Amino acid sequence: MTTTPKIALVGTGKMGSLHARVLAQSARCELVQVVEPREDQGREVAGRFGVDWAPDFGDLAGIDAVVVAAATPAHYEIAGRVLDLGKPLLVEKPLATTYAQSEDLVQRSAASGTPLMCGLLERFNPAVRTAREFVGEVWQINGLRHSPFVSRIPTGVATDLLIHDVDLAIGFAGSELSGAKGEFGYFHPTSKDNRAEDSAEAVLRFASGAVATISASRISQRKVRQLSLLEPERLIEIDLLRRDITIYKHIDDDMPSDRDGYAQQTVIEIPTIRYSEEPLAAQLGHFLDIVAGTADADVERDSILPAHSVVHEVGVSAQAQPVV
Ligand SMILES: NC(=O)c1ccc[n+]([C@@H]2O[C@H](COP(=O)([O-])OP(=O)(O)OC[C@H]3O[C@@H](n4cnc5c(N)ncnc54)[C@H](O)[C@@H]3O)[C@@H](O)[C@H]2O)c1
Repeated sequence: MTTTPKIALVGTGKMGSLHARVLAQSARCELVQVVEPREDQGREVAGRFGVDWAPDFGDLAGIDAVVVAAATPAHYEIAGRVLDLGKPLLVEKPLATTYAQSEDLVQRSAASGTPLMCGLLERFNPAVRTAREFVGEVWQINGLRHSPFVSRIPTGVATDLLIHDVDLAIGFAGSELSGAKGEFGYFHPTSKDNRAEDSAEAVLRFASGAVATISASRISQRKVRQLSLLEPERLIEIDLLRRDITIYKHIDDDMPSDRDGYAQQTVIEIPTIRYSEEPLAAQLGHFLDIVAGTADADVERDSILPAHSVVHEVGVSAQAQPVV
């Protein structure tokens, strides 16, 4: 595609409003329409960026590509229709509510050759992009993604939050996944009724022997986003919220004879973060590369299901346990 692609944005809630700003700011595409069933909300976002609002996207005439940021339960139907119309699409994570639906969308995208990308946004976190340049053999991965409760999000924490770190762990492990299991917790008064888990603990094992343990919670008192990668000679801690990296190397420990206590020598390195672009803008840039044919749509499509599959496997293993 040589002309500036015209984009429709579907869904203008919290995440959709952010996408609208990034799309409107981009010099590489043109946001021409926002689609939102809630008229007041849709008109407000459309007005902010001087574009058209519609309650539905119809046949997408005049649109080159679509960004879907609607509520997760609507993804499958919307993405299916966009694929049927043959338009490249970026769908917020998770791709769909169930793994079977996600698989179906990926298969339909592959069969028609229509580019499909999923908004696994942490891939574009500047600290993750920087770490990817120097992380080597990884033995142990620990992820922590905890947030306070948000009543707006109806889906469980596994597909909403856990999926990000599962996706990062798969990327950093650099080895075939050999198994996954987990446990879910249900605590909030609304969660037990709609079977939406509040906490998810996952253990992933890789063919290399590497093990990842990932904890996600949506009922915490504090927002934490941390990923630790243990290599043979160093520990790399990524703070995904602050977007910084700290590398630790243990030197020695001792019980000093002249005083009580314990002395430990650790060298700490704080590498420069080599990227400054907002993750959502970097993600859009990659999507536009795919739309333009300068990035590999097949590689991108193939990268969607592994994290979804692990989250599904973790869910199956957790559901096998009695819910108390
Ligand atoms: N990548 C990330 O880090 C990240 C962060 C937050 C949310 N998300 C994802 O973004 C999506 C939206 O989340 P949110 O927090 O903005 O939710 P939200 O509730 O604020 O907004 C969802 C919007 O979708 C609209 N909608 C519902 N059905 C629709 C349909 N059929 N067509 C068009 N619009 C429809 C709703 O009216 C609402 O405005 C979810 O899939 C969520 O998982 C991703």
